[in-house]
Amino acid sequence: MKTITVHASRTYPIWIGAGQLAQCGQLLRQQRTPQTAAIVTDDNVDALYGATVQVSLEQSGFHVVKFVFPHGEKSKCSATLNQVYDFLCENAVTRTDCLIALGGGVVGDLTGFAAATYLRGLDYVQIPTTLLAQVDSSVGGKTAIDLPGGKNLVGAFLQPTAVICDPDTLQTLPRKFLADGMGEVIKYGMIRDEALFELLEQYTLDTIHDVIADVISTCIDIKRNVVEHDEFDTGERMILNFGHTLGHAVESYYHYETYTHGSAVAAGMCMMAKKTCSDALYERLCRCVTAYDLPTQVPASLAELVPLCGKDKKRASADLRFVVCEMIGNASIRSMPFAEFVAWMAQ
Ligand code: NAD
Ligand code: GLY
Repeated sequence: MKTITVHASRTYPIWIGAGQLAQCGQLLRQQRTPQTAAIVTDDNVDALYGATVQVSLEQSGFHVVKFVFPHGEKSKCSATLNQVYDFLCENAVTRTDCLIALGGGVVGDLTGFAAATYLRGLDYVQIPTTLLAQVDSSVGGKTAIDLPGGKNLVGAFLQPTAVICDPDTLQTLPRKFLADGMGEVIKYGMIRDEALFELLEQYTLDTIHDVIADVISTCIDIKRNVVEHDEFDTGERMILNFGHTLGHAVESYYHYETYTHGSAVAAGMCMMAKKTCSDALYERLCRCVTAYDLPTQVPASLAELVPLCGKDKKRASADLRFVVCEMIGNASIRSMPFAEFVAWMAQ
C-alpha cells in the first residue's frame, strides 16, 4: 500500500492499494475511535462493494448505517441531498460520527457537500470507485450539487479526513467510464508530467490495467501538489482545467447526454492544442487520446461551441481564463476579454 499525505487546511492520508476496500475499517480505526459510520453510495456501487465496506467497518467496531440512492448525475441534486439529511437525522448521526462516500464523483461530491453542511460540518472519508474519482474528484475537497440552472452551482470546500483508493474496484467499471477517467489522466500528463504522458503512450485502454496503480498514484500526487499550493482555487488550481473550457462547452452543447465529462475534456484538450501547439504535439496528443477510445473532436463547430465557453461559472468578470499547454508537462493560464477569445478562436 502507498500513502500520499495532503497538507491543506486539513492534513490527511490517501491510501492507495489493491484490496484496501476490504481493509477500510482497520485503516479508519487508525484515525478515529469507532462510532457511527454513515455510508452514502449509489445502487450500482452498493451491489458491488457495499457489503465489503460495511463488514470491514463493523469488524473494526463501527456502528454502520447506509443510504443508497439511484446512480447517475441526476441524483446529484437538492432532492437527494435532503434525503441524505433526513437519513442522518433519523439515524441520530452526530458531529463526532463520519460519512463514508463510497462510489464515483457523484457520490463523492454529494456526500462531501452533505458533510460540509449537516450540523455545520462533520468528517467524511472518500472511497472512490471510478477512475475519475480516484485521480480527481476524491482529492482536494471540492464538494457540490447541481441545480436546474447548472452543474456544481452549490458547493463548499471541505477536505476529507482520509481517502481510500482501491484500484481493484476498476475491474468492474464499465469500459466507457474507464475511458472517461483516462481523459483526466492524460490531462495530468499534459499539464505537469511528460514522463507520465510518455508512459501513457505505451499503453491503450485495453492494456493500461497493467500499470494503473502507479498511474493513479502519479495523478494523485500531481493533484496533491496543486491543491497544496492553491486549495481554494484562486490561481494555480485552474491548470487542472486544461481542456475543460471547451470541454464544458461540448457537454453543454450536447445537453450532458452525448459526451461524458472525460471524453468532452479529451476533445477540449485536442481542440485547444490544435490552436496553440505545434502540429507535431497536436498529433501526438490526438494519438494518445485515440488510444484510450476518446474523441479528439466533436461534430459541433468551434463557432457553435466557443460562445458557450462564456457560460463557465468560473469566468472572472468580462475576462475568460483558460489553460494552454504548449509543451507536454507545462501548462499556463491565460486570460483575455471574452470577445477577444471568441475572435482568437475563430482565426
Ligand atoms: P459517477 O459517480 O456517476 O460514476 C459513473 C458510473 O459508474 C455510475 O453509474 C456508478 O454507479 C458506476 N460505478 C462507480 N464505480 C463503479 C465500479 N467500481 N464498478 C462499476 N460501476 C461503478 O461518475 P464519475 O465519473 O465518477 O464522477 C462524475 C462526477 O464527478 C460529476 O458530477 C463531476 O461534476 C464530479 N467531479 C468532481 C470533481 C471534484 O473535484 N469534486 C472533479 C471532477 C469531477
Ligand atoms: N477537478 C478540478 C479541481 O479539483 O480543481
